Amino acid sequence: MNRPLLVVGAKGQLGRQLCDEASRHNNVVAAGREDLDITQAEAVRRLVGEALPRAIINCAAYTAVDKAESDSEAAHAINALGPEYLARAAAEYGIPLLHVSTDYVFDGGKSDAYREADPIAPLGVYGRTKEEGERRVRNTHSEHIILRTSWVYGPYGNNFLKTMLRLSRERDELRVVADQRGCPTATIDIARALLAAESAASSGRAKWGTYHFAGAGVTTWHGFAHEIVSAAARAGGRSVPVIPIATKDYPTPAKRPPNSELDSSRFVERFGYKSPPWQERTREVVEALLVPAEAR
Ligand SMILES: NC(=O)c1ccc[n+]([C@@H]2O[C@H](COP(=O)([O-])OP(=O)(O)OC[C@H]3O[C@@H](n4cnc5c(N)ncnc54)[C@H](OP(=O)(O)O)[C@@H]3O)[C@@H](O)[C@H]2O)c1
Repeated sequence: MNRPLLVVGAKGQLGRQLCDEASRHNNVVAAGREDLDITQAEAVRRLVGEALPRAIINCAAYTAVDKAESDSEAAHAINALGPEYLARAAAEYGIPLLHVSTDYVFDGGKSDAYREADPIAPLGVYGRTKEEGERRVRNTHSEHIILRTSWVYGPYGNNFLKTMLRLSRERDELRVVADQRGCPTATIDIARALLAAESAASSGRAKWGTYHFAGAGVTTWHGFAHEIVSAAARAGGRSVPVIPIATKDYPTPAKRPPNSELDSSRFVERFGYKSPPWQERTREVVEALLVPAEAR
């Protein structure tokens, strides 16, 4: 019998997209937080032992970057300890673990794209706890793939793209930081990348380790917002000006890396899946959210 894929954090924006995509060809066990709290080691072990999946994909995380600054215990439990419990259970049952991580493990001081071997130096609690989660996975279970991604958006959950669409309806102009650069990455592409990696891992073509995977191209939050609003205007939404501002004019509790561009070439070379240009996916996602399917 075909063993299922176990998707953990299945109700988040990435988890939902991954379950949609994976269930087209696979038997999927989708575990939301109410089905599995990854901070409970025994519950993790029990579910993995019952489901006996062919691979575990962890999309669960504490992702509220600013809130994490004053809630570090919860962020640590979910981002650092949870991944270790998943890795322990995966190791016990001999199952590969795919774990999603972040560009925020870097401080953003590099002038060009980050590669996997670049030194990590997280700026805040979120990045530090995610980095510790990576380390715990590496130290616990050799059969792992850690996928670092960035600036995640898609049709589900909360994300920057959906916030910009809402604000463009509510406000007459948007003010967005123009001095932080990175790669917007669509959940559909991360889902496909994870499935490509899982298929290689489960068929014995193991290529364990840490990889970067992000949308092709680089922009600023301002550039991303501009593309979103332009695409929305073409799809019948309001056209509002998007004003560039500096990070210092938009203070937040957590510091953000000024550059978090990820170089995905190692992933593409090993697993063969490449994201389309971020602008193309942005337009598709905006259109899918704004234009009824029958009118497209
Ligand atoms: N969002 C980004 O821009 C971004 C950028 C780089 C990397 N990433 C990484 O991408 C991955 C997916 O993120 P996302 O954007 O899909 O985040 P998300 O929408 O916030 O989803 C995270 C999910 O994890 C669940 N969760 C939280 N604590 C849990 C626990 N103890 N046990 C089980 N589930 C728990 C959340 O449930 P509740 O909603 O009930 O808390 C939520 O459904 C994460 O590893 C994240 O670090 C995200």
